[in-house]
Amino acid sequence: MSDQAIWTAVDDYIADKLLPDDPMLDAALKENAVAGLPAIDVSRAQGAFLALLVRISAARRVLEIGTLSGYSAIAMARVLPEDGELISLEAEPHHAETARANVARAGLADRVIIQVGRAADTLPKLSGPFDLVFIDADKPSNPIYLDWAVRLGRRGTIVVVDNVIREGGILNGNSRNESIAGSRAAFDALADERFEAATALQTVGAKGYDGFAIALLK
Ligand code: SAH
Ligand code: DHB
Ligand code: MG
Repeated sequence: MSDQAIWTAVDDYIADKLLPDDPMLDAALKENAVAGLPAIDVSRAQGAFLALLVRISAARRVLEIGTLSGYSAIAMARVLPEDGELISLEAEPHHAETARANVARAGLADRVIIQVGRAADTLPKLSGPFDLVFIDADKPSNPIYLDWAVRLGRRGTIVVVDNVIREGGILNGNSRNESIAGSRAAFDALADERFEAATALQTVGAKGYDGFAIALLK
């Protein structure tokens, strides 16, 4: 088996053992494909990991940048308390529309607010504090999104940044790939004094070789 085939099979094993029968998220993925959206949602195991972070931190208000089909939004929003809310920012109207339908089907329309527009334009209109911020949109803007996470967060807010390893491309300081440059800039930002602690975890799985950064706001 190729490395990728093993990683995908192990993700399937994890889902079969620990995350079986998830019609809500399966439906979102199906609609994602029907609507012709790219299949770049977090994996099932990653969605479950984000949901655990929401629960461990007892988050009530979550900010997501990059909605796509609403997969990660649904995974997080459904474990929020009754009075919780998740605001998700999405630039593409077609993605936002698909996500709204998925969120409504999941029965979460009262807890999830999807705002259409480039995040750089919608972020200034938000008021904090958010307890958890998940950054998963255009990677070149990651340092700008981290600035906003600081502004809209509070002491102890959890910040998660997706896709920061890029198959090891993160090592290439001379890369002309803007996503790699944006992820390197995110690491520079996470290393500064605004963050109490930060780390990153490399991941392999159905989505290949990548990883998350996780930080705590000071
Ligand atoms: N968080 C989702 C995946 C998001 S994919 C999940 O795991 O289920 C990245 C999304 O960010 C795409 O839908 C893309 O349209 C959106 N995006 C790209 N640039 C953006 C921007 N400037 N502002 C807001 N959203 C953006
Ligand atoms: C891409 C974006 C993502 O957020 C992701 O998790 C995987 C891939 C992409 O733009 O290719
Ligand atoms: Mg991502």
